[in-house]
Formats: sequence, C-alpha cells, structure tokens
Amino acid sequence: MSSLLKANFQTTLPMAAHARGVFIYDSSGKDYLDGSGGAMTVSIGHGVKEVLDVMRVQAEKVCFTYRAQFSNQPAEDLADALTALAPGDLNHAFFVNSGSEGTELAMRIAIAYWRDRGRPTKTHILGRHISYHGMTMGALSMSGHEARRQDYSDLLHPFALAPAPYAYRSELPPDAYARSIVERWDAVIQECGPGKVAAVIVEPVVGAAGGALTPPPGYLKALQDICRKHDVLLIADEVITGMGRCGAWFACEHDDVTPDMIVTAKGMSSGYTPMGAVLLREPIVQAMAQGSGIGPFGHTFSGNPLSAAVCLAVVNYMRQHKILDNVRERGTQLEQGLRALSQRYAWLVDVRGKGLLWGFEFVTDAQRRTPPPAALKANERFAAHCRDAGLIVYPAGIAPYNNAAIVAPPLVISESEVRTLLQRLEAGMRAFAQEFGLDIPT
Ligand SMILES: Cc1ncc(COP(=O)(O)O)c(C=O)c1O
Repeated sequence: MSSLLKANFQTTLPMAAHARGVFIYDSSGKDYLDGSGGAMTVSIGHGVKEVLDVMRVQAEKVCFTYRAQFSNQPAEDLADALTALAPGDLNHAFFVNSGSEGTELAMRIAIAYWRDRGRPTKTHILGRHISYHGMTMGALSMSGHEARRQDYSDLLHPFALAPAPYAYRSELPPDAYARSIVERWDAVIQECGPGKVAAVIVEPVVGAAGGALTPPPGYLKALQDICRKHDVLLIADEVITGMGRCGAWFACEHDDVTPDMIVTAKGMSSGYTPMGAVLLREPIVQAMAQGSGIGPFGHTFSGNPLSAAVCLAVVNYMRQHKILDNVRERGTQLEQGLRALSQRYAWLVDVRGKGLLWGFEFVTDAQRRTPPPAALKANERFAAHCRDAGLIVYPAGIAPYNNAAIVAPPLVISESEVRTLLQRLEAGMRAFAQEFGLDIPT
C-alpha cells in the first residue's frame, strides 16, 4: 500500500499525468474523457492558459495574507463578480475553502442571524433524506446521507429531514407527488417547531447522494413560501449546481427564487484551487451588522489572494466565452443522447437532470424498478467499466440501492466531445450489462 492513503484502502487508481480541456491522461498515456468533471467540479476544462497565467502573476505578487489583517483586491473583485451574477439582493460574500466549510458557515450564519434578531432558540437546520452537504460534522448533520452518517450517528445533530424529490420511486401521479413533497415540508417544520428552526437547506438538484434527483418546476418557490410563512431562512446548497452547471448562473434562478443564502464551491474554482463562497442577502447582513456587528466567520485560508485571483480568472473566462450558452446547447445534446441510450437499454432508467448535470439508475427489472442487490455496488462497477472505456462518470450512492451514476462533463465540452462521451458511455454500459447479466441490444 502506498504511503498516500486512498478512501478505499484496496483501490489502485490510475496516476494522472496531465490534463487538457475535457481529457485527463494517465502515466501510461491512456486518455479519459472527464465525464463528471471529477466530482462535478471542473467547469472550464483542464489546463486553461488564462487561468495558469493569472495564477503565476498573482503568486509573484502575494499568495497569502490573513483575512483579519488585510483585505486583498482579488477577493474584493471576486465578491463583486459573484454577487453581480447572483439573483436579487444576494449582495455579500464570504469565502471558504470547500463546500463543507460553506454549508457549515451558512448554518452558523443562520443561527447568528436569529440570535442577533433576538430569537436565540432558532438553531435547527432542516435538510432532506437523500442529500449531501459535506463531511464536516455540522454539514453532515444537515445531510440525509445514511452511508456517510452511520459511523458518527450519536455525534451528529439529529436534525429533521423532509423527503427528497424522488418521483421515480413514488406510486403517486406526478402532480400529487409534487404537492405531497412540498406539503411534507410544512409538516416537518411544524413538527420541529418553527420557534426552533433557523433554516432549511436544499440542493436545487440533488447531486452525489441522489444521482441528479430533480424536483418538479415550482418546488423551490413553494418551499420558499413555506419558509417565509414560518420565519425560516432558505439556504440553497449550490456547491454542485452553481456557476452555470444547470444552465443558469445559479439553479435557483430556474424557479425565480432568491434564497437567503447560496453556498457555492466546485464550479467557481473549476478545480484550479480549493475555494467556496457563501452569498448572503442584504437583510441577513444588516441584521448581523446591527446586532453583534460580527459574522461567525473564520478559516485561516479564507479569501486568500491566490485562490481568489484564480477563481476570478475562472469566472471571467466563463463570462468572456459565454459558457452558459454552451451548457444549454450541449445539455440538450447530452440529454437526447442519454434518453436514446435509455430507450435501447431498458435497464438504464429515469434519466434526469438539468443543463450539464445528468443522472440515471440501473435496474434489473424495469417494470418493478428493481435495483441490483446493493451489496454488488452496481454504481461503482458501472463507473469502473466506463473508466476502462475511457470515460469518467461519478458513482452516485442513492441509499440503500447503490444504483445510480452522474454524467456532468466540463461546461466547455464540444459537440464532437459529447458524441465521444456517449460512445464511451455505451461501451461502458455494454461491459456492465455483461457483468450483471442485463440485456445488450445488437
Ligand atoms: C451539494 C454538496 N454540498 C457540499 C459538498 C461538500 O463539498 P466539499 O467536498 O468541497 O467539502 C458537496 C460535495 O460533494 C456537495 O455535492
């Protein structure tokens, strides 16, 4: 075993040697189309010269200053850029170094906000079954991710959970189902007691935990109305869905919603540096300013000039190259390709998603929606077969099934690269079908 531990001690991974655009090359020269942008992270592709140039120039000026001792221009400019892109009066930003730090900071801000408004009992943050907000203990407390929670159960806050938007496994007709998942939110907040609830946190499209579970249109708007009715803040975890991934700068815009806070991370850095942000609405900041005057902020590397300059270069690149237009066009192409595969391979079901974030499940009986036995970890086997075929996909772990995958390529992917992605995906599907005894069309 190498001195560098991997999450699974038994795994041997290919060694990444270099990467350009949507391709990663290993040390043997084999190329992999980065069909999930790593963990739905790479937005503008690998090795972009403009970003590398900024990285070097900024490094020569100053890499690090401490946030309580100096401000720095790249961080100021990045905050301006992100808040200008965000909807409504999300006018302020604080920077963190990961998605987990971001969701956990949003949790602390929600609690501080209510304390500063004289309501210190509002400390609970409600989430959903089948959700993931990060690995730190606060973030995990808000997550409905059984596999990742189970080892720490009594150390986590037992925050209440509402159902995820998972229509595929519901017996209700679509309209009734859509109504039921919203109404359940109202009941969950009432059961917990609105006097105790500081905020609700949701991913606009459920990523890693749900294989791109996508709510019906209007869901987020209805949830916002319920939150307002009960004096509860709405936090949108856009760690995956933000920064263009779903075709708008932030996915909450699809429902015309300005949440009280947006957490964003992966795509804003495109993987060039570890960085995330919490964007806050004006009233939240004003309440804290007029209350304690202090935000519950604080990590050593927050808003460091080097990471900020790099993220700003990523955002500028996205704006200059009109990346959102590409997401819409290539998103349609990818959706059509996935739906066509699902038609031919009856065991690949419930293609769902938005923009360039797509997921699907594998079943052994499409009529009964039967997943392969969870112990076989079909999601990991599927990703392994795709990797052999030269395509990286993300194995999503819908509890308790382990039967989904995510395809979420860099947002700059071209038309011919989407075709290559679909060809390699089909090759991976055929090998997977052979292993699991599923139908392979001629
Ligand atoms: C929706 C969501 N929130 C939060 C996180 C945590 O982000 P990080 O891994 O950067 O801590 C993730 C990571 O996958 C995520 O998908």
